[in-house]
Amino acid sequence: KRAKRPAGTPDKALAKPVTKVGVIGAGLMASQFALLFVRRLRVPVVITDLDQARVDKGLAYIRDEIGALEAKKRISTDEANRLRALVTGTTDKADFADADWVIEAVFEELAVKQDVFAEIEKHISPTAVLATNTSSLSVEKIGLKLEHPERLVGFHFFNPVAVMPLIEVVNAPATDEATLSTAMVIAGKLRKNAVITRDTPGFVVNRILAKLLGEAMHAVDTGTPFEVVDHALDGFGLPMSPFELLELVGLKVGAHVLDTHHAAFPDRFFESDNLHRLAEYGTILERDAKGRIKGFDK
Ligand code: CAA
Repeated sequence: KRAKRPAGTPDKALAKPVTKVGVIGAGLMASQFALLFVRRLRVPVVITDLDQARVDKGLAYIRDEIGALEAKKRISTDEANRLRALVTGTTDKADFADADWVIEAVFEELAVKQDVFAEIEKHISPTAVLATNTSSLSVEKIGLKLEHPERLVGFHFFNPVAVMPLIEVVNAPATDEATLSTAMVIAGKLRKNAVITRDTPGFVVNRILAKLLGEAMHAVDTGTPFEVVDHALDGFGLPMSPFELLELVGLKVGAHVLDTHHAAFPDRFFESDNLHRLAEYGTILERDAKGRIKGFDK
């Protein structure tokens, strides 16, 4: 007799096998999780991006990281060579035809993600499962241009992917049980803790982080010096200060996440022009000779 599943968790028996992974995007998050897929699933992983230069940069990152694991003796030379051989890059979507799990981490813009999925659906197998690494957009809306939105699930990693133990598996209204089940089984194989979340802005983690980082930014916007805000939580046990964390997340992504939350809950989240200005400058951590944050002219 099969044990009763906890409420809300899908039947693992419905999970589809994954024999090849397709990764759309070769940037910061995509190349990190492409590495994790090849390392933990040991199946071919193909990555794609807008052009060959971006693809090559992602591939170089993955190969360097495999080299680093080998140098630290976490994996043998044989294993490193096997993993390197399993990862390929392409700009030809036809190379996704036999992928059965396709995950994207392209720019956090709804229209971009919708078009990416509508386009890839023309090239993939009808049974392939689709996943989005969106951090705060609606998975339901991302799937609106799909012919089969029931095969789309949110699969949200945290940075650094190799270290952070959590994946948010976003159960959108259209997501079917086989898709959800596949996502949960894959998360297990990646050795991550998976939580199933509702398809609400920011899901669970970013809703909380956006509050913390948004309040930190708003304190600066309303006159508290950067340093005061950045060090106020020292000793609270957080691994990073708020602005270090914003830098790690990426200032453009951070600004976008704040905007998404402000749009959804204008009375609860702030948006910050200063954060957009800093995102344009590129870093929050660089100081001038007087110790002032460069790129911040307030
Ligand atoms: N890639 C791979 N491994 C990394 C890494 C990276 N970018 N950064 C650190 N590591 C590894 C190191 O190799 C080291 O591993 P070993 O001990 O096995 O060698 C381990 O992590 C610890 O690293 P360090 O000792 O160098 O540094 P640390 O102890 O200061 O930890 C940290 C660094 C893990 C990044 C820690 O500061 C931390 O957990 N910070 C908070 C990160 C966080 O909150 N991330 C979530 C951001 S939100 C998000 O990503 C989602 C979104 O949608 C916006």
